[in-house]
Amino acid sequence: MTESNRKLLVTGALPYANGQIHLGHLLEYIQADIWTRFQRHRGHECYYVCADDAHGTPIMLKAEEEGVSPQELIDRVGVEHRRDFDGFLVAFDNYHTTHSAENRHFVELIYQRLNDRGHITRRTIKHLFDPEKQIFLPDRFVRGTCPKCGAEDQYGDNCEACGSTYSPSDLINPRSAISGATPEERETEQLFFRLGDFEEFLTKWLGKHTQKEVANKQKELFEEEMFEWDISRNAPYWGFEIPGETDKYFYVWMDAPIGYLASFRNLCDRKGLDFDEYFNPGSDCELYHFIGKDVARFHTLFWPAQLKGADFRTPDGVWVHGFLTVNGQKMSKSRGTFIMANTYLNHLNPEYLRYYFAVKLDNSIDDLDLNLDDFQTRVNSDLVGKLVNIASRCAGFVNKLFDGKLSAGLPDPAMFDEFVAAGDRIADAFESRRYNRAVREVMALADRANQYIDAKKPWILVRDAGTRSQAQEVCTQGLNLFRVLITYLKPVLPRTAENTEAFLNIPPLTWQDSRSPLLDHEINRFTPLLTRIENRQLEAMVEETKAANVKGRATGPLADDPIADEISIDEFFRVDLRVARIRDASQVEGADKLLQLTLDLGGETRNILAGIKSAYEPGELKGRLTVVVANLAPRKMKFGVSEGMVLCAGPGGNDLYLLDPDSGAQPGMRIR
Ligand code: 2FM
Ligand code: ZN
Repeated sequence: MTESNRKLLVTGALPYANGQIHLGHLLEYIQADIWTRFQRHRGHECYYVCADDAHGTPIMLKAEEEGVSPQELIDRVGVEHRRDFDGFLVAFDNYHTTHSAENRHFVELIYQRLNDRGHITRRTIKHLFDPEKQIFLPDRFVRGTCPKCGAEDQYGDNCEACGSTYSPSDLINPRSAISGATPEERETEQLFFRLGDFEEFLTKWLGKHTQKEVANKQKELFEEEMFEWDISRNAPYWGFEIPGETDKYFYVWMDAPIGYLASFRNLCDRKGLDFDEYFNPGSDCELYHFIGKDVARFHTLFWPAQLKGADFRTPDGVWVHGFLTVNGQKMSKSRGTFIMANTYLNHLNPEYLRYYFAVKLDNSIDDLDLNLDDFQTRVNSDLVGKLVNIASRCAGFVNKLFDGKLSAGLPDPAMFDEFVAAGDRIADAFESRRYNRAVREVMALADRANQYIDAKKPWILVRDAGTRSQAQEVCTQGLNLFRVLITYLKPVLPRTAENTEAFLNIPPLTWQDSRSPLLDHEINRFTPLLTRIENRQLEAMVEETKAANVKGRATGPLADDPIADEISIDEFFRVDLRVARIRDASQVEGADKLLQLTLDLGGETRNILAGIKSAYEPGELKGRLTVVVANLAPRKMKFGVSEGMVLCAGPGGNDLYLLDPDSGAQPGMRIR
């Protein structure tokens, strides 16, 4: 395919459908959005697709916590995600979901092809199981003491204190982050993708299609362990069932990148595009994935191997970026710097952030800092003070004194040509994702345009009838220089470009348009294109972020544990609460948290295992009245069956308070 008619497909990593979009996410979507807009601006056919990553245990648990179905959760989050992307002018051609018919089709097809070709194997492994919740625990849901450095409360896959990686069963004192129970190691048969079959292919692929640092890191891993990748999970799981298996689901990371195909397929079906032209092996179309460095392994090892093994084309580029820090530190809720997309938009124009990211982005994997003071300075001085200033200094005179008419010629065509000539360098910078270079060059030109106007002083030229037409020419020159610069920044500032098109009374600008000047042409009235960022806007954004954090997380019972969604009285009455007397209480051998209670419900005896060991001695409970959920289905636990639940207040551990009716209440009385 020649440079003039490239066909490109670009993706951003699929965000999980259980949380809101924040500025850290936006770094990537804006980076890729600028690139795709640039490609279209240059006349290429370029599609940008994304989707929600809608499967996996965290989504299943989050839905459960909210008391909604996973489908309801992902539907709601999907709407929020689309709203946030629109707000930041991230113009996906399609935004789909991995919980879709297209994705099921492709994951089944890819699995079947890999299986048919012998790339899938099965073996029995040990995996941590939560005996209370009755589920196998993902690594991130096991916490405990780091086996290497002894730091407490670390995740099951890596230690945030010393950075070492390990398997969850290596943790000291592991516990389930869901129930607090001590996980058990259970044997389970799982399906594995034999990544080792693709070593030769991947070694070559890595050398050409991602950044050097990324390739080297992946190759290191590859040399250490020629691993197989566990692509299956046991029920209960929220995802797609694996055909031909019982109670086995595809691991979320198996179907997540396949979501790129699914989203594009959905677009093709809607728009009549040829999917195969893009995805057949040997396709001339280009495929690029923009991702963060935390998911590089999935995208630079597993994903190309999945595609290769299933006879699809492989990516031309997996472009990795670093993390976003704010004010030099990891984003923090308490400092008010963990800023949600929606919060930002309540106070600031999305193009400010798009511009600031462009100022700082290059093609490296280095972290990028959003320093809020610097952000304000750059936006105010570059965009408002330099760029938009060119137009506002010239437009007023043209509107008022020359009936909105531009002159028939340019007074300094050589200068205009220099601005045009810079376009090739700027295009190279965008193409190679060195947006910082592109922006630097544009701002240097903006300085020159302002110096030109300073030197020519149109405000003096207009005073005298003899020099008035020169003022028109100077302003025409200024507005033409401005038009060239807006053309270059259109991928970064699409809304300002659109407003400029309306003001200049021209059709949508393309990259080529900047090459010939706009002369003898009537423009519309100028209205300010961008305004300064004021301190109070930034302060209000940070305060809103802090306040949102306080609502959910401040100390105090209500803040720690907000009141649940409203229920009807009928729903409440489905829970049968009864007064019970604790006849007997004893330790449970081997259990860290449980006491065994024998309850008298006024004629009926119940055996209950209650997680109250750290708060009560058995002796102090005997004879007490308490409240029990009497119609709870019996639950099979590691230490026996629990036939109900006693009610306690408090967060847990030794901060627990057993409910206790006033004396006089009789065992068996219903609580209403
Ligand atoms: O890390 C994440 O947020 C994942 N949801 C990214 C998935 S990218 C792709 F593979 F789907
Ligand atoms: Zn450690």
